[in-house]
Amino acid sequence: MRMRKKKHTDDRIIACGSLLAENPEEMRGRWKDISDNRPICLEIGCGKGTFICETAKRNPEKFFIAVEKVRDVMVMAMEKCRDAQISNVVFSDIDAEKLYEVFSDGELSEIYLNFSDPWPKKKHAKRRLTYRTFLEIYKKILSPDGVIYFKTDNRPLFDFSLEEMQNCGFKLSDITYDLHNSQYADSNIVTEYEANFSAKGFKINRVAARP
Ligand SMILES: C[S@@+](CC[C@H](N)C(=O)[O-])C[C@H]1O[C@@H](n2cnc3c(N)ncnc32)[C@H](O)[C@@H]1O
Repeated sequence: MRMRKKKHTDDRIIACGSLLAENPEEMRGRWKDISDNRPICLEIGCGKGTFICETAKRNPEKFFIAVEKVRDVMVMAMEKCRDAQISNVVFSDIDAEKLYEVFSDGELSEIYLNFSDPWPKKKHAKRRLTYRTFLEIYKKILSPDGVIYFKTDNRPLFDFSLEEMQNCGFKLSDITYDLHNSQYADSNIVTEYEANFSAKGFKINRVAARP
């Protein structure tokens, strides 16, 4: 997501107060302290936050962490949650590459990957958030009964991801190539990209992957 650099981003982030995880590395192995022993769920690349805001609102029994590497985008997600008075979520602008510095083994219950950048060129495959190096990190930080939910409109990325997940030993289930016309449609929470792509007629693919 390319954005023009916004002024006052830091001030806006500070104005969201407790929604910022300021030094996330210091929380490694200790997220339970602020989650009140609730299961901890992570969204990677939360964009402007429509999904995390609604998901956190519907699931007060869980605690959410949303990471988004672009601060100018992350602040919009934070403001959305602040305005909706959501208190079971925090945000961090770390890159997904750093996740193992922020979460210890088995610390997470769920990981959401929504409309991750496809990086269509083969030479950029390593940057895909479902490339094996990322999957190996997710496998470590997920609890043994944890789960990754991945959805995308991009069929080549989806097919690539299913193969990578299987090769990394994940068990796949609940696969659909048309989420909005599936049995999972009622419980689905639509993201910004999802709304945009499905309005253009693209079908949405979705999978659950367990280590
Ligand atoms: C295509 S957008 C999708 C946004 C949102 N999930 C949605 O479905 O509307 C992908 C988002 O992931 C973020 N992102 C991409 N790579 C990332 C990484 N390595 N670590 C953290 N965020 C990342 C981008 O900045 C962008 O906001």
